[in-house]
Amino acid sequence: MKKIMVIATGGTIVGTGAIGKSKLYEAGQIDIDQIIGTIGNVNDLARVEAIQLFNVDSNDLSLDNWIELKNVVNEVASRPDINGIVITHGTDTLDETAFFLNLVCETSKPVVITGAMRPATATSPDGPMNLYQAIALASSDQAIGMGVVAVFSNTIYSSRDIQKENNFKTDAFSKRDFGCLGYMLDEKPYLFSKTYKRHTYTSEFPRLRLDKLPKVGISYFYVGAPADDLVKIAQNKDGMVIVGSGTGNYSKEWIVAIEDLIGQGKVIVRASRVNNGMVFENIHFDPSNRSISANTLTGPKARVLLMLALSLTRDIDEIKRIFGEY
Ligand code: SIN
Repeated sequence: MKKIMVIATGGTIVGTGAIGKSKLYEAGQIDIDQIIGTIGNVNDLARVEAIQLFNVDSNDLSLDNWIELKNVVNEVASRPDINGIVITHGTDTLDETAFFLNLVCETSKPVVITGAMRPATATSPDGPMNLYQAIALASSDQAIGMGVVAVFSNTIYSSRDIQKENNFKTDAFSKRDFGCLGYMLDEKPYLFSKTYKRHTYTSEFPRLRLDKLPKVGISYFYVGAPADDLVKIAQNKDGMVIVGSGTGNYSKEWIVAIEDLIGQGKVIVRASRVNNGMVFENIHFDPSNRSISANTLTGPKARVLLMLALSLTRDIDEIKRIFGEY
């Protein structure tokens, strides 16, 4: 029988509140062992061990926590007795952590991230079923070499493209334009697609000795957005992700400010506040052709990739290559 390590970081899956209610609760309250204990048939799937690494609301995670989590995942993945890993996490920032791990974990073993929308004290919490299916997927040979994937509400998602799209329903995630990777029916995975993008054991980032990540900020464009706000946010940053309108667009005032920031050596990535579609090179919004297009990455995910890219290089053409490959 396979052995699966659950690495718990907190979130609603271990949240508690008024009995039966699904709002006004505290995330990250009880140990994951208590949730595993409620899954009657978990031992039919695998031998399960758990590490309670953190127990926080995912909004309170820090970049140092990410580095610690990645070190633990890599350590656990290198153990010959472990066949797969499940990470439990709050849903609010799950998309960011999942993508970070997808880029920095050097393993072809299954790594599955999950969480819950209802706290453990709600009527019919979704956490135990999500965790059950995550353990089942992590035990499946079909998940080997897939990179970090997420399981939520009977659905398997790629960590690159998963996005929270509903803030209270249990079916809270989408994979935007690209559809999901597959479904879970009870403990059985039905996989239909795979990503073309580099990840985990094919990624160049696991070899980085990451003690600290470069500083990258995000600025959101809207009608009348003062360029001064963008400049202020950019002040102590190595790079910036601009979440523009449309295909990564912004006002003439922002074009001038961004050219100036590029001149100061800041690395700029253009992303979009539109959920679907792609940001590509555009000489109108990037007259010197020195910004990088986020392609289909959301602003927060473009930030994750830019932090890692800047840990490797400051060469703009190299960073453009990286954004094309991941
Ligand atoms: C969190 O992200 O920790 C709170 C929200 C959730 O898990 O659904």
